[in-house]
Amino acid sequence: MGKSITHKIIEKHLVSGEMIPGQEVGLRIDQTLTQDATGTMAWLQFEAIGVGTVKTDLSVSYVDHNTLQMGFRNPDDHRYLRTVAAKSGAIFSPAGTGICHQLHLENFGKPGTTLIGSDSHTPTAGGIGSMAMGAGGLSVALAMAGEAYFIPMPEVVKVNLTGELTGWAAGKDVILELLRRLTVKGGVGKVFEYAGPGVAALSVPDRATITNMGAELGATTSIFPSDDRTRDFLEKMGRSDDFMELIADEDAHYDDVIEINLSELEPLVAQPHMPDQVCKIKDLAGKKIDQCAIGSCTNSSYSDLKNTAQILTGKQTPPETDLMISPGSKQVMKMLAREGLIEPLLDAGARLLECSCGPCIGMGGSPTTAGVSVRTFNRNFEGRSGTLDGQVYLASAQSAARLALDGEFTDPATWGPAPERVELPEDVPSIRNLFVFPPEETASVEILRGPNIVALENFDKLPETIEAKVLLKVEDNITTDHILPAGAEITALRSNIPAISQYIFSRVDQGFVGRMKEAGTGIILGGENYGQGSSREHAALGPRHLGVKAVIVKSLARIHRANLINFGILPLLLVTPADYDTLSEGCELTIPANDMTAGGTIDISIDSGETITVTNDLTKKELEIIQSGGLLNAVREDQS
Ligand code: F3S
Repeated sequence: MGKSITHKIIEKHLVSGEMIPGQEVGLRIDQTLTQDATGTMAWLQFEAIGVGTVKTDLSVSYVDHNTLQMGFRNPDDHRYLRTVAAKSGAIFSPAGTGICHQLHLENFGKPGTTLIGSDSHTPTAGGIGSMAMGAGGLSVALAMAGEAYFIPMPEVVKVNLTGELTGWAAGKDVILELLRRLTVKGGVGKVFEYAGPGVAALSVPDRATITNMGAELGATTSIFPSDDRTRDFLEKMGRSDDFMELIADEDAHYDDVIEINLSELEPLVAQPHMPDQVCKIKDLAGKKIDQCAIGSCTNSSYSDLKNTAQILTGKQTPPETDLMISPGSKQVMKMLAREGLIEPLLDAGARLLECSCGPCIGMGGSPTTAGVSVRTFNRNFEGRSGTLDGQVYLASAQSAARLALDGEFTDPATWGPAPERVELPEDVPSIRNLFVFPPEETASVEILRGPNIVALENFDKLPETIEAKVLLKVEDNITTDHILPAGAEITALRSNIPAISQYIFSRVDQGFVGRMKEAGTGIILGGENYGQGSSREHAALGPRHLGVKAVIVKSLARIHRANLINFGILPLLLVTPADYDTLSEGCELTIPANDMTAGGTIDISIDSGETITVTNDLTKKELEIIQSGGLLNAVREDQS
C-alpha cells in the first residue's frame, strides 16, 4: 500500500514504536525552535540536562513575544537567550526581527524534516512539507539534547482540495471552514494532510496560514506536499538546496478523507470567543468595528501585507476604527518598503507596529471595553487580547483590511474587485543582523543571567496516595490563557516560576492561589478539552509549583497533557462524564495513585462516602515519568 507524506516522514525518523494509530512512536528531531515566552525555561532545562551543545541539525532561539522590554526583566532574559544560544551552538534571532514561525518558514524550514517548537503554531512550517509540531519547552530541550520526541502515532486525515479560491476568499477561509465543520476538538490525535488538485493553486503563504491554524483543531500537525510552489518559494528565498519533492503515493492510505471545494468558499469569520464559532462575514453585516489588527504568525506574510496595501491604497479608515499592522519579519517589511507600499498604509490611517507577535499576545493594542476587534490572528479566547470583554473576531488579511475601511461588517458582495493574488518577488532582499550565528569555538562564551532568571526547582516524586481537596472546578474548553493569562506584566515573569505562579487562574478565580497556599496541595476538576490553546508549559509548571497533584477532567488537549506529564501532575479522565457533577469544589479526595496502571482504572473515594472511577490514557513510560516527579527527574534517574 502507498504512503502518505506523514507516513514517509515518520518512517524516516522513527526510533521506536510502530506506526499504528494511538501507539507511542519516538521520532528523531532534525530542527527545533523556541521563542522567548516559553524559551527561557526551555533553555534553563537544556542547561539542566547538561549535554553542552545542541545535537540537532539546527536549533533557533527567537525573541518575538515580549519585545516591549519594559524594565530590566525582558532585556535580561533576551541577553540570556543570546548568550546561552551562542554557548550551545544555536542560532539566535533578536527582538524586532520578526515572528518565529514566519522567520522559520522563510529562512530555515525544510521539506521532509521533523521540527518541534515550544510554540503551538510550529506547524506553520508544514506549509513547505516539514513535519512541524508544537511541544512543551522540556520536550524541546530534550530534543536539543539529542533525545527522541514521543507522540501517539496520529491518524492521518486527507483533506482533498478541489477547485480554486475565487474573489475575496483566502487561505484563512480554508482553515476557518475546517474549524466550522470539525470544532476545536476535531483534530485531536490527527495529522491533516492536504492533497488533491486544489493544492497547486494555493501559494506557500496560504498553505502556511492553513497549517498554522490547524493548531486550533487540536491537531498533532498539518502538512502540505512539497511541490513546484515550494521549490519556487525556496528559490526566491535563496534556499534552492533545501528543496526536495515530497508528495503522497497515488494509492496512499488515509484514516479519513475530508473534501473541500475551494471554489465554493467565501469570506468567513470566527466569532467571540472560540476559533470554531465560524460564520459568513455577510451574516454580521451592520455590526460596528472598533479595531482591526493585521499580523501574527497566521497572516503577516509579504502577500498578506501587499494585498492589504493594495486594498488600502488611496483610501482612508474612519477615525473611530483603529487599524494596526505588524509585518511578520523584517524581510517582509523591507520588501514592502522597497515597493513603496508602506506609504499607502500610513496614508490610510494604519499604525505600523514592530515585526513581532504584538497584540496577538496582548502586548499592546488591546480593544476598548466590549470593543469589537477584527484580527487576522489564530485565537480569540476570552481575555487574550488584554481586554476581558473584548469581542475578537478572526478573519483573513484581505477581509480585515477591507472591513477596516468600512468600519463595520459588510457583505463581501459590496466590496468590489478583490486584490490580485500575490507571488514573492524574484529577488527577496537580505537583511543585516537578522540572525546571530554561534561562534565556532564556544568555550570562552559566558552565559549572562539577570535576577529574573530563577533556576528550575526540583520536584518531589508523586505520593503513593494523594489526599487533597478539589480546589478549583472549571467548565469545558478551559484554555492555557485561562490557566495563565498573557500580557506584558505576566509574560515578563516566564523565567521566574515562583513569581509567575501567583497569576495561575487569576482571571478565572482570584482566590485559587490563596487556597492552594493554605492547603499546600490540591486537585483541579475540569470539563472537556482542558488546556487547549497555547503550548505554554507554565500552565503546568505554575500549578505544580503551587502543589497541584492531579487534574481530573472529561478530556485533555494534546500539548497541555504532555506538559502535565512532563512536570509530574497526574492527568485523570472521568470514566462517567456525569461524575463531574458529583464532585464539587472543596470536596476531599483520596486517590490511590500507586494502584494506577497505564490505561487502567482506579476508584477515587470522596469524603461524602461516594466513589467515582477514573482512567488514564498514559503509556507505561509516561506513568513512570509522573511517578518520578516529572521528566527532568526521570532523565536524571536514567543518566545515573
Ligand atoms: Fe506569536 Fe500569536 Fe503566533 S503570540 S507565535 S503571533 S499565535
